[in-house]
Amino acid sequence: MKTIIEPFRIKVVEPIRMTTAEQRDRLIHAAGLNLFALRAEDVLIDLLTDSGTSAMSSEQWAGIMRGDESYAGATSFFRLHSRVHDMTGFDHILPTHQGRASERILFDTVGAPGKIVPNNNHFDTTRANVEHSGAEAVDLVIDEGHDPQSRHPFKGNMNVQKLRALIERVGAERIPLCMMTITNNTGGGQPVSLANLREVQEVCRFHGIPFFLDACRFAENAYFIKMREPGMQDRPVDSIVREVFDLADGATISGKKDGLVNIGGLLLLRDEALAREARNNLILTEGFPTYGGLAGRDLEALAQGFAEVLDESYLAYRIRSVAYLGEKLIESGVPILEPPGGHAIYLDARRFCPHIPAEQFPGQAVAIAIYRLAGIRTVEIGSLMFGSENTQPTMELVRLAIPRRVYTQSHIDYVAEAVVELHERRHELRGLRIVEAPVALRHFTARLEEVESPTA
Ligand code: F0G
Repeated sequence: MKTIIEPFRIKVVEPIRMTTAEQRDRLIHAAGLNLFALRAEDVLIDLLTDSGTSAMSSEQWAGIMRGDESYAGATSFFRLHSRVHDMTGFDHILPTHQGRASERILFDTVGAPGKIVPNNNHFDTTRANVEHSGAEAVDLVIDEGHDPQSRHPFKGNMNVQKLRALIERVGAERIPLCMMTITNNTGGGQPVSLANLREVQEVCRFHGIPFFLDACRFAENAYFIKMREPGMQDRPVDSIVREVFDLADGATISGKKDGLVNIGGLLLLRDEALAREARNNLILTEGFPTYGGLAGRDLEALAQGFAEVLDESYLAYRIRSVAYLGEKLIESGVPILEPPGGHAIYLDARRFCPHIPAEQFPGQAVAIAIYRLAGIRTVEIGSLMFGSENTQPTMELVRLAIPRRVYTQSHIDYVAEAVVELHERRHELRGLRIVEAPVALRHFTARLEEVESPTA
């Protein structure tokens, strides 16, 4: 059989609401041409993010009932601890309410003015937490990672020469840790190879620099290693996952992705002294170390999610269903970031509508048009999110993030049809201008309007 089916059947359904084109037009104008300002009930298919949007399994819901809500020493914590310890080998396992809380605690502890943190690509909250500590965040992804058309199998890899040069230039003592984001979300959900992880770790070990993972999508990354890296085809995914974690001195994880839960995160550490300091910081704002800002039931759901995500029939379906959308778009000539990523397809807005100048937010224009045409919510990752008056990001993308186990193949077919139709009518798209926006993180709350004509 060639068709890879959804490896589950559906027990609970949640209705989604069709709207008319006239309704959507009114709604999106009232929202100031900003998709974050829509009500979710006015969205038919929500591809804003794959984070916290997973459907939980019957076993996870059973765990929700089993949750032990004791303030200290809850059974649910030990179940999570045992699961994560088996999977990663780490002893110090701190639960947090989500990934960015782990990042905040980590960089509160190791970051400071004058310090420098390298990464393949920092995710925005990671960068923000590094910078909040006074340290500088440096991105060292390979050159192919900046080219939407390069089909390099591991576009998330770090340029090891650049890492060596950075260490030489600033000195290892100014680098409190080196991070690798797997998969590389900012760079298109692209994987990092095991060979590259080993090489970066070796450079770090040679210089005495702790090696950390931003491991939100560790299972998807491991599956890509199995599929694409020479010699890995017969290896069970859980053994690849274990080797990846064995390389690391620590990890931040948002459970909202490969943890298959709606809330939750982890901070994993090997160093005893660092763990003690992080635990004290955790108590200050998140909670006691055996719940870390979560309910006992959340810990149960996360423990079960980490088991389910390593099921290879799940991963085959997951990676295949995202690639399926990418292939449908490529077949119809829609420009996307290639190859398809693990959790999302990214439209290349510069090639999608070359008639819209860079300063008129082509990515946001495409995202708004997709909603108006078909009720689908996506997110711009380009000049509105990262640009400013004098700087433009290297890529102008629209991300279609696929929630885990939520949409079926016919939903995805509908998404592909809508994007293909829009691409055929792309000349009708108009650029946008900002009417009002805050200074920082403007994409969340900015209000925009259309410019009069494509070249105005
Ligand atoms: N690191 C990466 C690579 C991420 O993608 C995210 C979240 C985080 C850290 C932070 O985790 O949200 O639990 O605090 N990414 C979401 C997204 C928000 O839409 O890509 P969090």
